[in-house]
Parts: sequence; C-alpha cells; structure tokens
Amino acid sequence: MTKLTTAAGAPVVDNQNTQTAGPRGPVLLQDVWHLEKLAHFAREVIPERRMHAKGSAAYGTFTVTHDITKYTKAKIFSQVGKKTDLVLRFSTVAGERGAADAERDIRGFAVKFYTEEGNWDMVGNNTPVFFLRDPLKFPDLNRAVKRDPRTNLRSAENNWDFWTLLPEALHQVTIVMSDRGLPRSYRHMHGFGSHTFSFLNAKNERFWVKFHFVSQQGIENLSDADAAALVGNDRESHQADLLNAIDNKDFPRWNLKVQVMPEKDAATYHLNPFDLTKVWPHKDYPLIDVGVLELNRNPENYFAEVEQLAFSPANVVPGISFSPDKMLQSRLFSYGDAQRYRLGVNHHQIPVNAPKCPFHTSHRDGSMRVDNNNGSEVGYEPNSKGALQEQPDFAEPPLSIEGAAAHWNHRVDEDYYSQPGNLFRLMTPEKQQLLFENTARAVGGASKAIQERHIANCSKADPAYGAGVAKALAARAK
Ligand code: HEM
Repeated sequence: MTKLTTAAGAPVVDNQNTQTAGPRGPVLLQDVWHLEKLAHFAREVIPERRMHAKGSAAYGTFTVTHDITKYTKAKIFSQVGKKTDLVLRFSTVAGERGAADAERDIRGFAVKFYTEEGNWDMVGNNTPVFFLRDPLKFPDLNRAVKRDPRTNLRSAENNWDFWTLLPEALHQVTIVMSDRGLPRSYRHMHGFGSHTFSFLNAKNERFWVKFHFVSQQGIENLSDADAAALVGNDRESHQADLLNAIDNKDFPRWNLKVQVMPEKDAATYHLNPFDLTKVWPHKDYPLIDVGVLELNRNPENYFAEVEQLAFSPANVVPGISFSPDKMLQSRLFSYGDAQRYRLGVNHHQIPVNAPKCPFHTSHRDGSMRVDNNNGSEVGYEPNSKGALQEQPDFAEPPLSIEGAAAHWNHRVDEDYYSQPGNLFRLMTPEKQQLLFENTARAVGGASKAIQERHIANCSKADPAYGAGVAKALAARAK
C-alpha cells in the first residue's frame, strides 16, 4: 500500500470530494490539493521528439564474444565474456507520439551502453544508409515527410517532390519501398550505426568502423495490406510485441558485427567512406563478430524511462570516436541541443540518462539541478586546488584534414545510382515486384510529373527498376 500525500508531503485527506462551502456551495481556494492536482496535470506533457517521436524501449546486456582489442581500446570490448548494461529505444520516424507502429518508414535503433568509462550512445537506424549526406537538408526532409502546413495531412506530393529532387536519396528510398520498409516488429529487423565512426586501439592507431546489429530473430516484414489490417485493430503492435516477448522471457537478441577500415585506406578507397548514402560492400570489408546484445527487462515507467531517454551521437568513450562524415558532425550538435529544449539543461541527471560510472562535469546550476551541484568545489579551472583536472591521456591522435573552405557541392560528379542499382539486382523477382508495387502505392498519390521524375531516377539505377515502377503505376491507374 502507498499513502497519498501532496508534493510537499502533507497527507491528502480526501481525494474524492473537493472542499466546498456547504454541500451545494462553490469550491474553496484553500483546497490546495485540488489546485496542485490540476496545475500539475496541465503541465504533464513535454515536447515530443521532433522526429522519432513514437518509440518503445527495453533494458538489456551486451556480452563480448570475440576479441577486437587490436582495433579498439574501449573497455566495453576489453575481454571476451565481459557484460555491459544498456537501454535500447526503437522508433518510427515520421509519425507523432500517438502514431500507429505498423507504418512504412525507417525505424530508429538507439542504444545507450552504460560503460565503465561513461555512456556510449549508438544512435542508429534499421538501414545502413540515409536519405541525405548534407545536414543542411535534414529539417527539409522532416518538413517533406511530416504534415502539410495547409491540409494538416501527410502529403505524398511533398514527400516525393523532395525525395525525387535529391539523387542521393534513391538508395534509402529503395530500401524503404522494399519489403524491409515495413518490419513486422522491432525484434525482426537489423540495426546499423549507418555512419562511419572511428576506433582507436591501445597504440592510438585509428580505424574507420561501421556497426551492424544482426537480428537473431531473423527479418520479417509486413505487406502494405497486412499492415492496413493490423493497424485497424492494433495501433501499438510493435510496442506490444516487444513488451510481451520480454515479459514472456523470450529475450530478443542481436549479433554486433563491425566492418573495419585502416585509417589510410580512406584516401584511396573507390568510395568516399564518409558518404552516408553508401554502404561498404562486405567483400571489401567483411563483417567481424564482436558480441551479442540481449534485451531482457521492460521499463517500469514509460515516461520516466523512455520518454525522458536522451541519446546523442556525441556520447562516445575512449577508443570509439567520430569521423569526418558531415551528417555525423551535425548530429554531434543537434541532439544535445534538442534535449536542452525538450528535457532541460540538466537532462543528463535524469536517472535513465546518467552514467552508471563515477562522473564529474564542471557544469553548474540551471533549471532542475537535482544533485549537490558540485557542493563547495571551485567552479574554475585552472586552479591550485586540484579540482576539475583535464585528462590529456585520452587525447586522440591528430587527424589530417585538407582543402579550402567552401560550400562544396557533393552532387557534382558523384554516383548515386550504382548502389541502389546493385541492391535492386540483388533482389529476387518477387522482391522486385513488391518494390514496384509498394512504390506505386506510395508515389501514386503524387502528381504525374513527380512520378515520372522518380521513374527516371530508378531507370538510372537500373532500366528494369524504372520500367517496373512505371508498369505498376500504369496498372494502378486502370
Ligand atoms: C532523433 C537530429 C540524422 C537516428 C533525433 C532528434 C534530433 C535529430 C534533433 C531528436 C532528439 C531528441 O529529442 O532526443 C538529426 C539530425 C540529423 C539526423 C540533425 C542529420 C543531420 C539521423 C541519422 C540517424 C538518426 C542519420 C540514424 C543513422 C535518430 C534516432 C533518433 C533520432 C534513432 C531517436 C533517438 C531516440 O530513440 O530517442 N535526430 N538526426 N538521425 N535520430 Fe536523428
């Protein structure tokens, strides 16, 4: 049993009847519980994430199965058998907080590893590439896929107008329109760090790295028709699937694998390894086994532990770091910035976000500071008190950078069609047919000129891709 009190700890004597002047009389202002209850209620909604608003999360464990210490000194990977606690939030991207789960969309796959050296956040998706490679286009992408300002409806016209004007988007669009664009559940999809990151080993040698989480449940997808029927009955199918699997002790697992490129290869590799719209073919950089991620505990309170979760690609640990990918660079700023607005400047103190190892920042004060605020320790550095000492032992080796500052146009002389073409050619005829039909249903809501622009883009990837989409659109128009 728990006993009800006000926020200040006073007993609530009556939670059924407001205090009034006489049985019929008006309400008294001195019924402070009544005032407090309504005032708190009016402030219970916080801003939702600008994208990835709808999501589900669970806690789990990462276990190292293979030795990769020659690539990274990160302590999370220091020993085979080592276990690290984590929380993983899955999400859809375009829908709002109350959106149905079974929508055709990419899925977020964000992991916070509570390592002994601080939190490592791997904020990825279920696709190895992205629509864009320049962060300046990110707000535009979200405007294009979210609601139209006049109709307040999602708009195929806006969505496809934008996508088809960006040749670099075709690879991701092809994945989203394929069978994998609508996973059956969060358990039945892979996760990817997508960007190129870096590893640093004990000798401070740098490697470029891509992270892959391969589902042990296998890939399972829904057709558009299955999803329509499902959503009619159940808008929370992914949430229920994850919750029930874990409650029933059917713990979902993913194998973590990495692709590793020695630092110097980046200069001569035939692709720009920092282009987020491209994959590194496995024949060039094979997958290397690292460990197993298992989800085995559901949160007790959704708001406290999931809505208040805050991931940021800026959260790395010694041995794991960034790369020159300009999308990643922009994300290093954007997440903390969003969270300072969405959750407040001290969001790192919320229990689910706080590191589980000792930590000691020099930040002070600010709204909702709830620890001892560094007590009486001096807040300046350098100081002669030994406080707040920097840690130069963790410095990364210098990274050579060259080139003149300019707004470089990455669309000139770049090949954005070979990889989507290769992906298309890898699909069985049945999968290609699904791609044609899913695309026709989605782009069918846009105007003819936009449809033709998309067919032309697909044809550049493979003439059969363009022809298949054209045929599916013609069949739909009959
Ligand atoms: C969420 C920005 C690209 C994966 C978010 C949020 C912002 C953001 C502001 C909301 C954060 C919050 O309120 O807590 C950006 C920008 C991008 C970008 C500026 C490009 C320049 C990407 C890419 C991926 C990605 C390429 C995947 C590879 C995610 C995920 C979430 C998210 C999974 C939800 C995290 C959660 O579950 O809380 N993004 N994003 N984003 N983003 Fe991005």
